[in-house]
Amino acid sequence: MDKFKIAGGIPLSGELPVSGSKNSALPALAACLLTEEPVTLHRIPKVKDILTMENLLAYTGASVSHDDATVRVEAKSLDRPEAPYEVVKTMRASSLVLGPLVGRTGRARVSMPGGCAIGSRPINLHVSALEQLGATLEQSYGYVEAHAPEGLRGAHIHFDRITVTGTEDVLMAAVLARGETVIRNAAREPEVKDLADLLVKMGAKIEGAGTPIIRVQGVERLHGTDHTIIPDRIEAGTFLLAGAISRGDVLVKDCVPEHVAALAIKMRQAGAEVEEKDGEALRVRCSGRPTAIDVTTEEYPGFATDLQAQYMAWMTTAHGISFVTETIFENRFMHALELARMGANIRIEGRQAIVAGEERLTGAQVLASDLRASASLVLAALVAQGETIIDRVYHMDRGYERIEEKLAGAGARIERI
Ligand code: EPZ
Repeated sequence: MDKFKIAGGIPLSGELPVSGSKNSALPALAACLLTEEPVTLHRIPKVKDILTMENLLAYTGASVSHDDATVRVEAKSLDRPEAPYEVVKTMRASSLVLGPLVGRTGRARVSMPGGCAIGSRPINLHVSALEQLGATLEQSYGYVEAHAPEGLRGAHIHFDRITVTGTEDVLMAAVLARGETVIRNAAREPEVKDLADLLVKMGAKIEGAGTPIIRVQGVERLHGTDHTIIPDRIEAGTFLLAGAISRGDVLVKDCVPEHVAALAIKMRQAGAEVEEKDGEALRVRCSGRPTAIDVTTEEYPGFATDLQAQYMAWMTTAHGISFVTETIFENRFMHALELARMGANIRIEGRQAIVAGEERLTGAQVLASDLRASASLVLAALVAQGETIIDRVYHMDRGYERIEEKLAGAGARIERI
């Protein structure tokens, strides 16, 4: 099992390039199931979860080929509209094939996602939305079986709570449904908008993606197209915080500044300089410890839950006490226990973490528990005194492409052992 060895205390300097968004590539790949024509996607990050999704598409019968950051999917005939347990158990986002499979073939059999480190993560909202489109879904033996023999018909759907992949799943089912579908309380994440842009290029009729109300006019069929995925805003945010926590001067390249606006505002309040460079890069500079600034995670355009762990790492070295409140997931503070082993002073009270900033952190042997928690440990290791060994870095490989090469390229003393 790979580990990272990091020597702390070195300010990063230079460029950190951002790859394509994992959380945009996953629904985009699933959307390829909606047409028998070939779809080519560019700027696909080479991360584990993408390979898992590619394997899943191939399992259903699609042909998948990729070369560097381009993936080509041709779902001519789908003879096995299923997502088996052995694939789903490694990636909850497999539920993204539920909508396209039902929309395209009238049936789907998808293993229920197990829990995962950050919470129970049910898919009840996906299921009830697809039922409103006319599918019948039953859950047995750990699988969701969906049937829509007469096809799907448009409906007015209102999500009880905002769900990103729930919105994406039902959007992909609605594009081939008969009639109009209106999705209310839809997720506004940039990845939802990117998926809608792809679907429209495939011939779908969608309005309002990126706003809380999305309207879809169903069409008979979709056709192939080419599409470039948006940059990964969570990687961009992680890199901004790497530049700040290491007290360096970094240019985060190939990103969309607007997608990380909530983080940039907090970072400026905490004393970092964050300036936009011609709309596709951000320069971050920070010469010392930040000022403690509270944060509460919220759905986009609020502060992203996927950046909470990384921000907390920065606050462990702040002047003062900050309150970090997690409103999206019920158990997303595992990184706090590992940060404490590096000298951080954090107290967890329910959905709130109280972070008392310390003068310094010290290197330690720590354990990654989930994708973003492992990123927060890397950030802490960059500023900690001495050496840190992070175990189970396969969590990082799920969502960050060549992270150690990129950080080393900006001066970090990091190696995979
Ligand atoms: C997406 O997960 C992202 N994954 C997550 O990123 C991200 O943390 C999350 O959105 C929130 O922004 C992908 O896009 C592949 P939700 P998703 O449905 O869609 C509850 C990462 O690090 N809920 O928006 O699964 C759920 O338990 C990952 O890249 C239900 O109760 O998240 C959570 O508390 C981690 N029933 C809340 O809603 C449902 O049917 C928001 O979840 C669905 C969700």
